[in-house]
Amino acid sequence: MFVKGLVLVTFFTQLYENFLGANNFAGIVASNSVGGSSSYKCRTQAQWNQLAKDSKAAGFKTIRIEGFECNALEMVSTAAAANNLQVLAGIYASKGTIDASLPQINNDVQTFRAAYKKFGAKRYVGLTIGNEVNDSVGKIMAKVYDVRGYLRSVGVTTPVSTAHIWVNIRDSPALCGADFVAANAHAFFDGNVKSAQAGDFIFNTVVPSLKKACPGKRIMISESGWPSRGNPNRAAKTSLNDEKAALASLNCASKRDKNVMVFAFEYDDQTWKSNDNERSFGIFGKNINLNDIFKPC
Ligand SMILES: *[C@@H]1O[C@H](CO)[C@@H](O)[C@H](O)[C@H]1NC(C)=O
Repeated sequence: MFVKGLVLVTFFTQLYENFLGANNFAGIVASNSVGGSSSYKCRTQAQWNQLAKDSKAAGFKTIRIEGFECNALEMVSTAAAANNLQVLAGIYASKGTIDASLPQINNDVQTFRAAYKKFGAKRYVGLTIGNEVNDSVGKIMAKVYDVRGYLRSVGVTTPVSTAHIWVNIRDSPALCGADFVAANAHAFFDGNVKSAQAGDFIFNTVVPSLKKACPGKRIMISESGWPSRGNPNRAAKTSLNDEKAALASLNCASKRDKNVMVFAFEYDDQTWKSNDNERSFGIFGKNINLNDIFKPC
């Protein structure tokens, strides 16, 4: 009797947790700097562990990082492994252009190779070389192909691409010429979209144009979110309620095509950034009830 009761309680607790821990995003983007800090400050391993635990509990399956500084690849991989999450790894071009960043990029490629060996192929859904790099498409893609060729030659099979602003990929499809599309797409910056239509914007406007530009490629919306503070962008207003409405809209819209992996942007507010819009995309550590935002739809 006692054992049966315990089994039943365990079953319903599990069901309840599964319900709470479900959303339709593929993953969440995390900065390597702690949230709420007025200067850039690397997360510790304990902070990465908490981040992975929070992300897992909210139903995210993958953590995206955009650079390897702060020993972030090692730390996020450790935290992800402990929480059965995957990683979308990103190498940043720290000196602005590809050429100026070459020593750092090549060093990071070795870091990735070592992490792949340590944590295993299944830990990584992809590797991006550069995030919104302000360089020619030719320069960016030459480096993407160079890194991909090198990694393949040493037995690393992780899909490789570059992450860029969705309009740039739409207008220069060479940017999706490698293994997958990684498009950053924020309805807020369009200026014609209200928060509650953020998900419609991604799935009615962004995804169709990327499918047309990049036929047959797997599509990742590698950043999408909404700021809670700062100046409005015409129809796009900022408030905590607008951020909540946008996240709810993105979550429900992400159900429409599960082959499109949408990454919510971002884990916590990055106060060190240059303006209130950029600083306030954070999802955790604010008065946002995720059970409410991610309720079934
Ligand atoms: C991109 O690079 C060009 C040329 O170096 C520069 O004029 C421009 O301001 C840069 N744009 C951004 C967004 O940094």
